[in-house]
Amino acid sequence: MSQNPQVRSEPRVSDVNVPVIEEFRANGGRVGGMFEGGDLLLLTSVGARSGREHTTPLGFVRVGDRLYVVASAAGADRHPDWYHNVLAHPMVRVELGTEEFGVVAVPLEGEERDRAFAEIVARVPGYGDYQARTDRVIPVVALERPFAEGEVATLADKLVEVHTWLRSQLAHVRAEAEAYLADRENGGSAPLGLSLQLRQHCLAFCESLRFHHDGEETMFPHLERSDPRLKEALERLRAEHRTVERLRGELEALLGDLSAADPVRFRAELDRMSEELETHLDYEETELFPTLAAIPFPPTAPAR
Ligand SMILES: [Fe+2]
Ligand SMILES: [Fe+2]
Repeated sequence: MSQNPQVRSEPRVSDVNVPVIEEFRANGGRVGGMFEGGDLLLLTSVGARSGREHTTPLGFVRVGDRLYVVASAAGADRHPDWYHNVLAHPMVRVELGTEEFGVVAVPLEGEERDRAFAEIVARVPGYGDYQARTDRVIPVVALERPFAEGEVATLADKLVEVHTWLRSQLAHVRAEAEAYLADRENGGSAPLGLSLQLRQHCLAFCESLRFHHDGEETMFPHLERSDPRLKEALERLRAEHRTVERLRGELEALLGDLSAADPVRFRAELDRMSEELETHLDYEETELFPTLAAIPFPPTAPAR
């Protein structure tokens, strides 16, 4: 899944990492020297301030079917840059072995973080040494693979794939918000404001949605030229994009300050978004599928 909206040019790599990344890619993910025998992946994140992509080699730890990276910075007192990047843009790309895929980066909090960190240290004790060197709580970031990519042969298949992702991600965020509110109402331990996990999933959804609709807006004029009967449907879809875009902006604004965000209002915004988006996705599928099903994906090169 390549859904990152900020992809504009070659990712930046700091000089010290260039040979590591080259070796990684040349050897199917294996790197010697100081990394010999360690589990390494490449994380490509979007700069929190620059908006540019950065690729960083990182150790990873697998616990069951979960994949973790640890923002240890070798025990330094500051979080590494990539950690700030994933907080701002949770949709990141991972290269692992010879595979490359999109994930949602979700830093764990509270007991969940402590439990995962203990499991990580049991497998790679060096992370415990790093934690001993600093007063900051070293973040543990789960890399969640959103879904297995299915067979995509046409643009209609691609649309289903992305719509499925958007529907599932929004459902996930709504379920998390419900659980969070229920915990608060029952006097549970949920902190004021919103949880980091909820925020990351919501931001990932918003980023994917914006990227998807930007892509569709670029595609619509071509569709209209190839089938002028779609004109009316496309006008309605564009208007729906504007409505959904406004709601997305309101949701993201609520996530700006987690401690001040009102969970009840957040839930109400999610409900509105769900309603508008479901209507939009259903209508789009009904109106565009017959045309999109005839267009191969990925696009084939024109015949010479
Ligand atoms: Fe759309
Ligand atoms: Fe769509």
